[in-house]
Amino acid sequence: MSLSACAITVSLGRKQVLHAVDLTARPGQITAIVGPNGSGKSTLLRALCADVPYGGQITINGQDVRGLKPWKLASLRAVLPQSSTLAFPFQVIEIVRLGLQSGTNAEQDEIAHAALARVGLAGYEYRFFQELSGGEQQRAQLARAICQVWHPLQDGSPRWLLLDEPVSSLDIAHQLQVMEIARGFAARGGGVVTVMHDLNLTARYADALALMKNGTLVAHGSLCDVLTDENLSNAYECSLQARRTPADGGWFLLPQVSKNSR
Ligand SMILES: Nc1ncnc2c1ncn2[C@@H]1O[C@H](COP(=O)(O)OP(=O)(O)O)[C@@H](O)[C@H]1O
Ligand SMILES: [Mg+2]
Repeated sequence: MSLSACAITVSLGRKQVLHAVDLTARPGQITAIVGPNGSGKSTLLRALCADVPYGGQITINGQDVRGLKPWKLASLRAVLPQSSTLAFPFQVIEIVRLGLQSGTNAEQDEIAHAALARVGLAGYEYRFFQELSGGEQQRAQLARAICQVWHPLQDGSPRWLLLDEPVSSLDIAHQLQVMEIARGFAARGGGVVTVMHDLNLTARYADALALMKNGTLVAHGSLCDVLTDENLSNAYECSLQARRTPADGGWFLLPQVSKNSR
């Protein structure tokens, strides 16, 4: 059981944005996609969601997503896009309910409220989405996504959360809260693939990394394999050092600032 992308190519307009990308994500893990701005992270995530035309093959738990009915795909994976806009004034609870299967029975209502509580938005149910702060909107959208895959296992098979920069608008406490939600989902058997911007937060939470540059995957594997000074400095074109804390062996990244620039 895994989420696999094999030789994925994507062209947008006249530009080839992804070049034969191979990626495998395992259930029980957080797989983070990192890389500089414009390297193709969001495009890869959109391909994994079957949200953009792609060449190559994507399988979820061994099933080619091209052969799956939309309702089946929706039951297997939920998506948090990098940004979303709404044309109409929806209440927060209406947004969250979009993640639920049809019907409004009591159990589903309970899930919608519990999802909002999990992202720290209990009591926000009847506020208008447009009147929330950017960070609150991001967490409301995450509540919608986690509603959709509330139980990380379905008939013994993993479900998948696909997140594009889920903590980009959040303060540090809410960043940790969201990463803990992702970790909890994985710990209960689901799989998480998330685009991340903050390398230090990524190094704290990810189990596996995919490092992108110019539409290709330049490194993919465990933190030990990917977080080398050479990989990071080449990808980001600045001097970065990956080190481990003496306290718990956790990874952290240090930029090297030249003395001349002070
Ligand atoms: N609709 C589009 N048409 C043409 N080029 C696009 C389009 N969307 C994205 N791109 C280009 O594709 C590249 C990758 O974009 P994206 O996947 O959003 O990068 P990232 O998420 O890593 O910052 C960028 O160079 C971007 O300018
Ligand atoms: Mg992006």
